[in-house]
Amino acid sequence: MAKQTVVLIPGDGIGPEVSRAARQVIDAAGVSFDWIEMPAGEGAIKEHGTTLPDITIHALEQHKIGLKGPVGTPIAGGFKSVNVQLRKRMDLYAAVRPVRTMPNIKTRYDNVDLVIFRENTEGLYSGIENEVAPGVVMSMKVATEKACDRIARYAFRYANRRQRKKVSVFHKANIMKLTDGLFLKCARRVWEEEYPNIIYEELIIDNACMQLVKDPTRFDVLLMENLYGDLMSDLCAGLVGGLGVVPGANIGEACSVFEAVHGTAPDLAGKDMANPLACIMSGVMMLNFLWDTRHDQASKNAAEKIKAAYNTVLSEGLHLTRDLGGTAGTKEFTDAIIEKLK
Ligand code: NAI
Repeated sequence: MAKQTVVLIPGDGIGPEVSRAARQVIDAAGVSFDWIEMPAGEGAIKEHGTTLPDITIHALEQHKIGLKGPVGTPIAGGFKSVNVQLRKRMDLYAAVRPVRTMPNIKTRYDNVDLVIFRENTEGLYSGIENEVAPGVVMSMKVATEKACDRIARYAFRYANRRQRKKVSVFHKANIMKLTDGLFLKCARRVWEEEYPNIIYEELIIDNACMQLVKDPTRFDVLLMENLYGDLMSDLCAGLVGGLGVVPGANIGEACSVFEAVHGTAPDLAGKDMANPLACIMSGVMMLNFLWDTRHDQASKNAAEKIKAAYNTVLSEGLHLTRDLGGTAGTKEFTDAIIEKLK
């Protein structure tokens, strides 16, 4: 099999540190990739005059697999979100975010095992905003049948393949009757016509928030539109130990980009304090994806080895990062995982 090239996008803030850690761990697990580093984010502006240079897009188009660090986005002004641009340009329509209880990470709950499916290309993130009159601004929420249908299909197909029992759709169709109404209609249709074996439920999202923090173990697969998926991902991360332990994938037909749920953590950047595990776990998702889609046995073996290695490091508890109650830096934690891979 030809060697896979992975487009590594280090990003901003803690991105370079955590993506470097993920690359080192993957290399140490014995899978041989050609890595090419490509720019995106605030750091790209100086050299390329833009936050999302064409060379990065072309590299993703060509190699189809990316591992990405977070990128910064200015608040209430400034350049457009690089993530929104990237997801739209590459049509990375499905964000997949598994949220699981981790060994030896004490939280309020045991046995949390959720997978969030977030529609990644439209909703309020269509970025269509304008000032209709002085002091009056509006933002447009877009839903298309095509996008609602394909994210529902993706979530149900995943649930079915992984023997998941239940899909819960979070919505606000009582207020946004057309947009969230369409999302529900598509999810319901996919369920009724193709997956009636799976338990299906719909929850208004305010109630869903309360149910999630009361007892997250009652949920399994969660399906929702873009903004809700963004918010719920961080909420759910809080159920299992925080943003340092929740990975993610952005899946499209032509290309997929793997990245942690967390952002650039400016408070930790450059201090060897970030937890690289979420990015490492995103790398494991990438390896499993290569197994699922290309039956690349070396990727599957590496994924299993890395998972066993980080679970052992967590269980032993000797090299935990600060967010997990330890004192280890990014490098110490990464080295501890690499040591277990030897
Ligand atoms: P954030 O996720 O960067 O940080 C939130 C909190 O979690 C902070 O206290 C931070 O220290 C902590 N944290 C995050 N990742 C961590 C890690 N790996 N290890 C230990 N602690 C960690 O969210 P925030 O502050 O809202 O956003 C900062 C910037 O990141 C913004 O510009 C935002 O737009 C961007 N962002 C980018 C994302 C991406 O590129 N995928 C996703 C989310 C935010």
